[in-house]
Amino acid sequence: MALITILSALNCAVGAPHGLNARGQPGARPPNNNDEMRDLQWGDLNFLHTTDTHGWLAGHILERQFSADWGDFVSFSEHVRQLADSRGVDLIMVDSGDRHDGNGLSDASKHDGSKALPIFCEADYDVVTVGNHELYRGAAARQEVRRIRKRYGERYVVSNVELVSGQSWVPMGAKYRLFTTKNQNKRVLALGFLFNFVGNDKLVTRVTKVEDELEKQWFKDVERDILPNVDYVVVAGHVPLRKFPEFTYVLNKIRAVNKHLPVSFFGGHSHIRDYRIYDDYAVGLQSGRYCETIGWASANISSGTELSVNFSRSYIDFNPRAFAYHVGQPDNFLTEHGRTVSKAIRKVRKHLDLDAHKADVPQNYYTDRAPFPSNRSLYSLIQEKVLPLLTSPEIIQGMTRFVFLNTGAVRFDLFKGPYTKDTGYILSPFKNQWLHIPRVPRSVAEQILPVINGFDRVLEKKSRHEPNQTNSWGPREAIDSGAEQTVLGTPKASCGYRTTDDLGDDGDSTVHSPWKFYPLPNAFQTITQGTEPHFYDEEELVSLIFHDFLARFIDKALNQIGRPELFKPTFHGGEPLIDLLPQYFNSL
Ligand SMILES: *[C@@H]1O[C@H](CO)[C@@H](O)[C@H](O)[C@H]1NC(C)=O
Ligand SMILES: *[C@@H]1O[C@H](CO)[C@@H](O)[C@H](O)[C@H]1NC(C)=O
Ligand SMILES: *[C@@H]1O[C@H](CO)[C@@H](O)[C@H](O)[C@H]1NC(C)=O
Ligand SMILES: [Zn+2]
Repeated sequence: MALITILSALNCAVGAPHGLNARGQPGARPPNNNDEMRDLQWGDLNFLHTTDTHGWLAGHILERQFSADWGDFVSFSEHVRQLADSRGVDLIMVDSGDRHDGNGLSDASKHDGSKALPIFCEADYDVVTVGNHELYRGAAARQEVRRIRKRYGERYVVSNVELVSGQSWVPMGAKYRLFTTKNQNKRVLALGFLFNFVGNDKLVTRVTKVEDELEKQWFKDVERDILPNVDYVVVAGHVPLRKFPEFTYVLNKIRAVNKHLPVSFFGGHSHIRDYRIYDDYAVGLQSGRYCETIGWASANISSGTELSVNFSRSYIDFNPRAFAYHVGQPDNFLTEHGRTVSKAIRKVRKHLDLDAHKADVPQNYYTDRAPFPSNRSLYSLIQEKVLPLLTSPEIIQGMTRFVFLNTGAVRFDLFKGPYTKDTGYILSPFKNQWLHIPRVPRSVAEQILPVINGFDRVLEKKSRHEPNQTNSWGPREAIDSGAEQTVLGTPKASCGYRTTDDLGDDGDSTVHSPWKFYPLPNAFQTITQGTEPHFYDEEELVSLIFHDFLARFIDKALNQIGRPELFKPTFHGGEPLIDLLPQYFNSL
C-alpha cells in the first residue's frame, strides 16, 4: 500500500523493464516500456540525423531514456535502410559534427578521439561535416582528416574550412557532394558548413565566413551548373537553426537560382531539438546532443507540373526500445554489425578504465533541470560544499577567498550512483587551471559577480531549451530514481524532452511528461571567510580565485569597475573541480 502511495505521488513513471533488457553496456538500464510512442512518417526521401555526439557513443549508462549505445544505433540504421529499400524509398544519413570533448570514451585516450572515432565510423553516413570541437586543437583537426575523411571520402563535406598543407591551404573535405539516390533516383547536392567560428587553431585550420565562402568561384560554378539540375539540396551544418544567420545566407543563394528547390538543413551546435520552416520548400532539423536524440526527417516530392513538397520530422530518444519500435523489430533488433560495435565499445571502456570507481553519489544533481539555488542543483552543491574544499597556497591561507566559477564549466548533470573516471570527463571536458589575484579590496571583489552576470555573452553555456521554451510544463517531482521499480496501476509517462518547434509539440517520438528547464546565471561565487583576514587602510583585502577560462571576463569586470590595474593573475594551483567532487562525497 505504501508503495502505491509513493508511486502515485510521482509525476513520471520510472520504468517497467521487459524485453530488450540485455544492454550493450554493463550497467545501462532499459527504458520505460509503457511510454506511448508516435510513429515516424516516411517519405520519398528519409533522413537520420545526429549532431554533437561529443564521444557519448556508449550512451547514457545512468539515464534509462538514453541507454542505447552506438551499436544499437548501427542496428537501427541498418534496419531503416532495409525498410527504405523494401519500400522503394531512400535513406540519407547525416552528421553535423562535434565528435570530441564530453565523454571519457573520446577524451580519456592518449590522443583524444583515437579510440572513439573508429567506433563512430562504423555508422554508414551519407553526409558528414565538421564541428568547432574538431578545430580547437590542430591535432584534432589532423586526426579528423586521417580518420573521418579517410573513412567517408567524398561524403565528408566541409564547404568552408581549410587545412594547412605545407605552405598552402587545402580544403578539409569535399566542398560539396553530388549524388543520385539509389531507389528514387533523386539528384542531390550536399553542402557542409561550420558557423563563423573564430576559436580554431589558426596555424592548422582556416574557417571562412559562410557569406564569403558563397562568393568563391567553386560556389559560382555550383550556382551555374548544379543548382539548376538537382532535385534536392541537403545542407549539413554545425550551425543552430535560429539566431545564427549562416543557413539563411545559404538559402538566399539557392533561392536566387531556384524558388522551389527543396532544401533540408541539418543543424547543430546549440544542443537542442529544433525544427524550423524557412519557406514552403525549405526546412531545418536540429537533433540535440550527447547521443540523446536521433533526428528523423522525411520529404514527399510531387512529380506533377505543380511542384509540392511535404516534410515531416521526429525526435527519437536514444534507447533500444524506441529504435526497435520504429523498425518493427522488438524481438530481433540487434544486427550482427551492431553487436560487434557494442562489443568494441565495451572493450574501449575497459581499456580506458572508465568505470574506475571514485565515490558514490547519493542523489541526482542537475545543471539546468533544477532551479539555482536549490538542493537539487549541481551548482548549489558545488557552491556550498565543494568549492570551499579547494586548497590554497600558503601565501593566502587565512585570507578571505572569493572563488568564481562559470556555470558553463560544468556541462552535464550528476546522477545518483557511482562517480567514475568517466564522470569527470562528462562533467567537465575542459582542462582548466585555477588562477588567483591575491590582494583585492573586498568592496571591489563584491562587485565582480554582478558585473559578470550582466554580460550578455553566456559563458560556454549553451542552453538546451531555448528557443523551445514552453509554458505548458507540468509539475514534476522526483525523477530518475535509481531504484528499479514497477509502476502499479495506470502507467504514467516518464519524464523527458517535450519539444516545441515550428510544427507544434508532437515531434518527440516518445511521449513524455516534460522536463522543466531553469535559467542559469553566467557564473556564481563561493566566499570562504578568512580566519586571519588581511587589512589595508581599514579595508579587508581578499583573494580572487577563478578558472583560466574566466580570466578575460574578470579582466573585463575589473575594467568596468574602474580598477583594471588590479588584474594581475598568477597560478593558484589546487585540485581540479572534478577531483573535489568525489573528495566531498567520500567525506560524507
Ligand atoms: C508521403 O506519402 C505517403 C503516401 O501517401 C504518406 O503515407 C506519408 O505520410 C507521406 N509523408 C510525408 C512526409 O508527407
Ligand atoms: C502534401 O499533402 C497534401 C495534403 O495532404 C496533399 O494534397 C499533397 O498531394 C501532398 N503532396 C505530396 C507531394 O505528397
Ligand atoms: C529540498 O528542498 C525542498 C524545497 O525547498 C524541501 O522540501 C526538501 O525537504 C529539501 N530536501 C532535502 C533533502 O533537503
Ligand atoms: Zn556541441
